[in-house]
Formats: sequence, structure tokens, C-alpha cells
Amino acid sequence: MFKKTILSALVAVGLSSTGAFASGHGHVEDFSFSFEGPFGVYDKAQLQRGLQVYTEVCAACHGLEYVAFRTLGDEGGPELSEDQVKAYAKQFDIYDPELDDTRPGKPVDKFPLGTYDGAPDLSLMAKARAGFHGPMGLGINQIVKGMGGPEYIASILTGFTGEEKEEAGKTFYENHAFSTGWIAMPPPLSDEQVEFADGSPNDVESMAKDVAAFLMWTAEPKMMARKETGFYVFVFLVFFAALLYLSNKMLWAPHKHKED
Ligand code: HEC
Repeated sequence: MFKKTILSALVAVGLSSTGAFASGHGHVEDFSFSFEGPFGVYDKAQLQRGLQVYTEVCAACHGLEYVAFRTLGDEGGPELSEDQVKAYAKQFDIYDPELDDTRPGKPVDKFPLGTYDGAPDLSLMAKARAGFHGPMGLGINQIVKGMGGPEYIASILTGFTGEEKEEAGKTFYENHAFSTGWIAMPPPLSDEQVEFADGSPNDVESMAKDVAAFLMWTAEPKMMARKETGFYVFVFLVFFAALLYLSNKMLWAPHKHKED
């Protein structure tokens, strides 16, 4: 009886990880990203492309209110040069309470708020959503694949079916990745919409992955530093464990084999 329960649990784990239980709604594709795994790092060129997609497409509706322009020059991020950061910030009109007016942005300013009704701020979106769940509330998929925030974002951007409907005077667009299946965001990306200077592919999926990677960086700009620290902590713990083992052996050595 007990064995049977374990067996069916294992089968369920197996099935759900192969996606056999995946319904049409909320389906998140397991895209791969350079920053996955214990040694994964952000790809600077990809973050720059993602910034470009955000700027040219998403910024029309969504804000990044927790991100300061100057961080675009930080190590481990898109690493724009000082002049590039200045020029980038200048494109935005920022409200200045001292002037009681707007002025061109400066590196110390934050990105402006979104302006489109109902469009959530994207600064922390990659950590606010989990793309992977279960199986059965166990969270094993998250341990294996990660939380899936950037996968969720890329899946939303690639999950439109082209169907739309009107409801209470609003238009909704069918989307496989969105929990309810219908999202109020019009499909923002189309093939070749953004021209990358490095000639990288600009089909919908590539742009979706680039902007999702960029939004992972805005949500966790210090991920690389965190992993590096984690690695040294790990090395230290291994070393310390070995030291403990050896001292334990040494201390007890005189008391062992007393009878001999
Ligand atoms: C025309 C305006 C518009 C544009 C452009 C736009 N969005 Fe949205 N977006 C919305 C609205 C409105 C919602 C809220 C949808 C809802 O709750 O049904 C939304 C929701 C989202 C969500 C959240 C889904 C959730 O789980 O709540 C993500 C992620 C997102 N957009 C990412 C992007 C990205 C990335 C871009 C640029 C490639 C982008 N959007 C471009 C209007 C827009």
C-alpha cells in the first residue's frame, strides 16, 4: 500500500516533468539562459540587446521604477560606458519636483513609471513570477529548473495565439502562458521589429529571450556577485569539513585500540 503510493508519486513527478499534465494555460517553456546554474553568468551582449528591446518596445507602456540609469554601467550588467549612460538617460523626460517640471534624465535618475493603464512595473517582474511549479506543491521542478521568472516572461511574449476577444469594452488576447489564458497586453513583439547593431537574430523568440534576460538582471543585478560568494563559501566549507575530520581523527587516535 505504502509502496504503491510512493510509486504513483514517482510516476506523477515523471509525468509532470515531461509536461504530460501541462494544460494549455500557464504553459511555460523551459528556455535556456546563460545565467542558469551555479556558475552561470549574464551575457553582456544579450543584456544590451534586451535593454534595446525594452527601450524600443516595452517602455511605451511599462516602467522600471526601481532601476537607476547609472546601474546600466555597473559591472556584471549591460556595462554601458559613462557617456552611453548619459546619452541613454537623456532620452527620457523625468519629472523633477524641484523644478515642478520635467527635464531630460540624468544617470542618477530612475526609469520613469509606466503610462499604459494596467501595465505592471517590470523592475522585479522576473522574481515576482514563478514559471515552474509542482509537482503537487513539492517545488521539485523549481529546484531542478529554477524559479522560472525569465522563462515566464519569454513564454508570455511568445505565447500569443493571434486570437482576441472583447469583454466589458476591453480587448483580451489569447496567450498560452498567461494564467487565465487571456491577457490585456496586445502582442508587443513581431519579427524583425528591433534592429540589433551586432546583427543578432531578431525573430520574436530571440527578442523575447533577450528582454527576459535583461529583466532578470533588473530584478537581480547582483546575481553574479552572489554566486561568486556562494562558491567561495562552498570551497571554505569543504576545506573546513576536511579539517574537522582530520582533527577529530588526531584527537581520538591515542584512545583507540587501547587493548593492543
Ligand atoms: C501596449 C502596451 C504594452 C506593451 C508595448 C507591452 N506591454 Fe506588457 N503588459 C501590458 C498590460 C496592459 C499588461 C497587463 C495584462 C493583464 O494583466 O492582463 C502587461 C503585462 C505584462 C507582463 C505581466 C504578466 C503577468 O504575469 O502579470 C509582462 C511580463 C509583460 N507585460 C512584459 C512585457 C514586455 C517584456 C514588453 C516588451 C517586449 C511588454 N510587456 C510590452 C501592456 C503592454
